[in-house]
Amino acid sequence: METYDPNKIGSRIAWGRSHSVYRYGENEVIKFPRWQSVFGTLLFDRVVHDELICRNYFGDYCLDTRVVQAPDGTHRAEIQPFVAGGHYLSKSDLADPVIKQHFDAFTDRYKEFIDTGHSPLDLIGQGGVLWRCLSNVFVLENKDLKIFDITIMDTKGLGGWGILFGPVFLYARIRQRNTLRWLKS
Ligand SMILES: Nc1ncnc2c1ncn2[C@@H]1O[C@H](COP(=O)(O)OP(=O)(O)O)[C@@H](O)[C@H]1O
Ligand SMILES: [Mg+2]
Repeated sequence: METYDPNKIGSRIAWGRSHSVYRYGENEVIKFPRWQSVFGTLLFDRVVHDELICRNYFGDYCLDTRVVQAPDGTHRAEIQPFVAGGHYLSKSDLADPVIKQHFDAFTDRYKEFIDTGHSPLDLIGQGGVLWRCLSNVFVLENKDLKIFDITIMDTKGLGGWGILFGPVFLYARIRQRNTLRWLKS
């Protein structure tokens, strides 16, 4: 596994629900999951698994992500390209016919994903709990859509921790279904 270079870590961009995000070198970000202090590297198997499934299904809608480890091997992180000028997808974006077209193509594929038996992806994220937006999906300046925070909302592989995640995922799934319906209406 690639080792990250601590000297390349720059300013903090965000302190999200589950990740602390920093600039990394010129063009990338590094994300440290906050759950790592509790779960250790356990959940990284799920990170890799979820990203592989999503890349197969959603291809270029997924932002490139790679899992890296600390020089002393004690913890892991994810590195992605830095997205400048992106914003969360919300209803007002869909007034733009180009973004709407991307969104419709994405939601068609998303429906197929669900219909083939996958659990929902967390598209709304933390921001989507308070506002009706998809806070894990950026609209880029060129109007492309990118999922930059990939979590499939099922408790597979989480062992006893599933009891903790189960109710959170259930709430998020209901909220997300309503949000997607509203965005498409
Ligand atoms: N690749 C990126 N480029 C630029 N900003 C990012 C990137 N990834 C995340 N961010 C910023 O960090 C925030 C939290 O990131 P996210 O991956 O959604 O973590 P969390 O799991 O905590 O929600 C995002 O809402 C966004 O503002
Ligand atoms: Mg998020």
